Amino acid sequence: MNIIVTNSPEQAFHRAADMIAAEIRASSRPVLGLATGRTMENIYRLLVQQYDAGALDFSGMTSFNLDEYVGLGPTDTNSYRHYMQEHLFAHVNMPLSGIHVPDGTAPDLDAECASYEVAIRASNGIDLQLLGIGETGHIGFNEPPSAFDSQTRVVELDDITRRQNSSMFGNDPERVPSRALTMGVGTILEARHLLLVAVGGGKAAIINEALNGPISENVSATAIRLHDNVTVILDEAAASIYNQAIK
Ligand code: F6R
Repeated sequence: MNIIVTNSPEQAFHRAADMIAAEIRASSRPVLGLATGRTMENIYRLLVQQYDAGALDFSGMTSFNLDEYVGLGPTDTNSYRHYMQEHLFAHVNMPLSGIHVPDGTAPDLDAECASYEVAIRASNGIDLQLLGIGETGHIGFNEPPSAFDSQTRVVELDDITRRQNSSMFGNDPERVPSRALTMGVGTILEARHLLLVAVGGGKAAIINEALNGPISENVSATAIRLHDNVTVILDEAAASIYNQAIK
């Protein structure tokens, strides 16, 4: 595992964006796994800057987002499909046909999850999967416990996660949908390269648990240690407890 610790959050975002940009340039048909959340907004901002500067071409790209809230459609400003449009898709030359986000309004959610897995395989799998980490140790919305061989499925969101994500819902955790569709831990582990990014002291404890704690289905992020091609990018604050523990 390649662990990079930067002096500031902005440096962490730059390192991550540069790694994603390199992946996009490396192939005429790159397949990227994308994430949402506050951390990723910064990375997408830098990718859009590179695109505006003429340094990146998204025309051959296919993307698969990790997750979506159940019940929220693309026009709902709190949906992850909308988030992606706002932060990335609307600003770059990515073809609509290449964009995949699980449909939280599908009439048959289990069928939607199954067809998402089929679509990932049909695209020849994900080259680079971008990951954040939640307070519960989730990657995607794989709340504890999540089997390491789990596939895309409907999950109940942890109360901690609903609180974590409540800022988009008037700071009211009760308004955060209680269910989501998420790629499974097993789906994530099938990607050829995993890139986990975390910044800030609020992530320090869970980063230490993910990187140093027992590998356990009770902390989904520990699963990344079972993968042989992983990059973790942290700022000093997110790395602080982990760094002390390994000294
Ligand atoms: C969202 C996702 C989540 C977030 C995680 C961190 O698509 O997959 O696992 O990456 O909750 O979110 P932020 O960056 O808002 O702290």
